[in-house]
Amino acid sequence: MNPSVVPAPGAPAVRARDLDVVRSGVTILRGADLDVPAGEHLAVLGPNGAGKTTLLHLLATYRFPTRGSLELLGHRLGRVDVRALRPHIGFVSVALDPLLEDITVLRTVAGSAIGSVAPPAAVLDEPALVTAAHTALERVGVDHLADRRILTLSQGERQRVRIARALASAPALLLLDEPFAGLDLGGREQLVTVLDALLTEPDGPTVVLVTHHLEELPTQLRRVLLLAEGRAVAEGPIEQVLTSAQVSSVFATPLQVVRDADGRWRATGVTDENRRVGRS
Ligand SMILES: Nc1ncnc2c1ncn2[C@@H]1O[C@H](COP(=O)(O)OP(=O)(O)OP(=O)(O)O)[C@@H](O)[C@H]1O
Ligand SMILES: [Mg+2]
Repeated sequence: MNPSVVPAPGAPAVRARDLDVVRSGVTILRGADLDVPAGEHLAVLGPNGAGKTTLLHLLATYRFPTRGSLELLGHRLGRVDVRALRPHIGFVSVALDPLLEDITVLRTVAGSAIGSVAPPAAVLDEPALVTAAHTALERVGVDHLADRRILTLSQGERQRVRIARALASAPALLLLDEPFAGLDLGGREQLVTVLDALLTEPDGPTVVLVTHHLEELPTQLRRVLLLAEGRAVAEGPIEQVLTSAQVSSVFATPLQVVRDADGRWRATGVTDENRRVGRS
């Protein structure tokens, strides 16, 4: 790692101005502005094809904007060696799974701390890496799976191991692309609890979470970006952004958005029946 590239103290985790992404002549992101202060967290919501994954790929430095400026952890893309910046950015996506070897959980998580997806068994001879791996696994409640092979894990277990992999390299910015995909209700609720704890860790990473369902939003999440057709439709404090009108408009469906007393959100379709009983 290039030691000169470290997250700039006090700098926003993300500062994007007027980002466009054009691929094969198609504009996928259009004029996106985004500010995520260090230590704050952002959820990105929007329909299929809105550009959510594309935005995360930009923040992961896997893709570059066609136009506009992007600063990550205080470093401007184009002026910084992205290979030196990447170790500070964790990216969790099922799309990365094919890169992973079917080795033990402990070895894969320990390998992530040195940026390897196929680490040699010798990583387990490094006490610092093994300790970092156990700590990361404990943070997401799956240290008991340390000796299991990855491909034997359930979807929910694997998802938490993916997050532990990302945490093992102590990222300043953690990007989660649909971490709830494929989880059953129990797995979803466990992951919401894990994320709520992560979001309130004093030295934890800034988290950008892409998700499809309001029910999956951790209660500690306070900012939301709504994307539709590559445009930022709304961005700001969660109570101002997640209104029934705005969410209905973005998903092109009449929806009633409710925040429960415990801080969890949900969206349900507006039907004649729930209109009749006064639910909307
Ligand atoms: N290389 C490419 N060339 C052309 N179009 C692309 C390319 N990559 C992505 N797209 C298109 O850009 C749009 C946004 O894709 P993206 O994967 O960012 O959406 P998303 O919001 O993550 O959707 P989903 O909820 O389905 O995951 C889609 O219409 C997609 O087909
Ligand atoms: Mg996507």
